[in-house]
Amino acid sequence: MIHLRPAAAQEIQRLLQSSPNHHGLRIHLQPSDCAEWIYDLSPAQGVDPKDVTFQVGDLHIVIAESIGRLINGLTIDYAEDLMGGGFRFVNPQASQTCGCGNAFSTTTHAVAEDCHTVAENPR
Ligand code: FES
Repeated sequence: MIHLRPAAAQEIQRLLQSSPNHHGLRIHLQPSDCAEWIYDLSPAQGVDPKDVTFQVGDLHIVIAESIGRLINGLTIDYAEDLMGGGFRFVNPQASQTCGCGNAFSTTTHAVAEDCHTVAENPR
């Protein structure tokens, strides 16, 4: 189950408007230098047979079945601060989260305090 705070749902709806032929929001995980995985939100350009789809409020969500256990219970919020707006992720499956909150690990894999420290100290 994925939870979307109202501000996140509103921002996602705004982003999806720029991609008229989407199939909803795809939540994806990419390998990350800052932890094991980094969240990737994008318009779903198609639905694969190995995808799982579900509805959260007015939004159609698409995820690869293979990442379901890594984001089960994920809450996505959106907030503005002095650095600009960004999504915020709270993932009960994460054992560690990087300094900015966009990447996480489910193991003892080390996480970065910020992306700058990764650039200075590549692993
Ligand atoms: S993604 Fe690099 S510190 Fe969060």
